[in-house]
Amino acid sequence: MPQLAERMSRAVPSAIMQVAEKAKKLKAQGRDIISFSIGVPNFLPGEHVYAAARESLARDSGQYGSNRGPDALLDAYLLHLKRNGFEGYERRHVCTGVGAKHIIFNAMYAILEEGDEVILPAPYWTSHIDIARILGAEIKVPYCGADQDYKLRPEQLRALIGPKTRLLVFNNPSNPTGMVYTQAEVRALGDVLVEHDLWILSDDIYNQMIFDGLPWAHLLHTHPQLRDRIILLDSLSKTYGMPGWRVGFAAAPEAMAQALVTLNSNAITNLPEVVNAAAVAALTGPQDIPERMCREFAGKRDEVMATFARIPGLSCPRPQGAFYAFPDISFAFGKRHGDTLIGNDVDFCNALLDAEGVACVPGSAFGEPKGLRISYTCKPAELTEGLRRFEAFCKALA
Ligand SMILES: Cc1ncc(COP(=O)(O)O)c(C=O)c1O
Repeated sequence: MPQLAERMSRAVPSAIMQVAEKAKKLKAQGRDIISFSIGVPNFLPGEHVYAAARESLARDSGQYGSNRGPDALLDAYLLHLKRNGFEGYERRHVCTGVGAKHIIFNAMYAILEEGDEVILPAPYWTSHIDIARILGAEIKVPYCGADQDYKLRPEQLRALIGPKTRLLVFNNPSNPTGMVYTQAEVRALGDVLVEHDLWILSDDIYNQMIFDGLPWAHLLHTHPQLRDRIILLDSLSKTYGMPGWRVGFAAAPEAMAQALVTLNSNAITNLPEVVNAAAVAALTGPQDIPERMCREFAGKRDEVMATFARIPGLSCPRPQGAFYAFPDISFAFGKRHGDTLIGNDVDFCNALLDAEGVACVPGSAFGEPKGLRISYTCKPAELTEGLRRFEAFCKALA
C-alpha cells in the first residue's frame, strides 16, 4: 500500500470512544456493564424538533445548501447568542458545522501553522489536543490540578504566552471536570489575554448546564475588546439532546467566519436540510428541556458527590456544570484489588471494569493521570447502582 501522510502518525482515535466501545463489547457479550464513559446527554429533543424534521422531509428539495448555513438557522443561532448576552453579531460573523468538533478542527486548521503554539489547560478535552496534534502544533499544557479546582490561573497563562503562541483553548464549563469559572477568575484571565495578540477558542458548548444558580461568566462579557480574536463555539449536542444530529456553530470575526465557510465549501458543502430544520426548531422552540435537564444533572451531581464523600482518600472538586465529575483517585495507587496491583489511573479503570463492570475514562486521556472522568447522565437507577459498585471497589482496595 502507498504510504499515508506523516501527519497520520500523530492521529489517534478518541480515547473516550475506545473505553465506550470496550464497554459496549462487554455488554454485547452478556456482561452487566454500567458505562460512565461517554458524554452523551441521554435525553431526546422535544417533539417540536421531530415535527420540524418531518415537515422538512416532506418538502425536501434534495439540493445542495449554503456553505455557511441557511439564513433561518443562522438567525436562530444569532437569537441564541443574544439570549446569552452576545450582541452585535450578524450573519456574516457566524457559521455552522457538523458538530462543534468539526468546527474545532476547521478553526485550528485556519489558525495554526506547523510548530505554532497552542495553550491547552489540563485537564483538557481529548479532541482539543488530538486535533492540535494532527495539525502539528506545539502544545503547551499548563497543569491545573485538583488543588486549584482544575482551573487555569492567570500567572500560568502569562508564563506560557510567547511570540509563537497563536491560540488558547478555553472550555467553561469544563469537560472533563465539570468546573465553572467565576466572574473574577474569567476577568483575571481576560486581563492577561488583552495584552497579547492570540486567538481564543471559547468552547462554550455546556453553557446551558450550570448548577446552583451560578451565572455563566464569559471573556467577551468581561473584556468586550477581545471580540476581534475570539471564536465562540456552541453545539446542539448536549444542550438539546441532539449529539447524533451533528450541529455546531461558531461566531467569530468576519474573516474567521469566512474561513470556516470556505473550509465547509471544500469539505462538507452543507448540513442536510432536515437537520437544519430540526436545529432551527431546537433553538427557537420551548427552552424548558435544557432547563429541566440541567436540574436533573445537578441532582445527579449531588448523588455522585455524596458517594465520593464516603470513600476515604478520594477527593473531588465539586462540579458546578456540564455532567462530569473528575475525582482524584491517586489514594488507590500502590494498593491492590484482589490480586491486581493498581499502579495508575489506567490500572484503576481496567480493574474497576473487570471487577464491577463500571466503565470510566482514565484521567491520563485528559492530561491528569491522578484522576478519572465519570459522565453521570445515565438513568437514575443505573447511576445509583454504578456508584454503589464504584464505592465497593474503592473500599475493597488494600
Ligand atoms: C468540550 C467539548 N467541546 C466540543 C465537543 C463536541 O461536540 P459536538 O458533538 O457538537 O461535536 C464536546 C463533545 O463531547 C465537548 O465535550
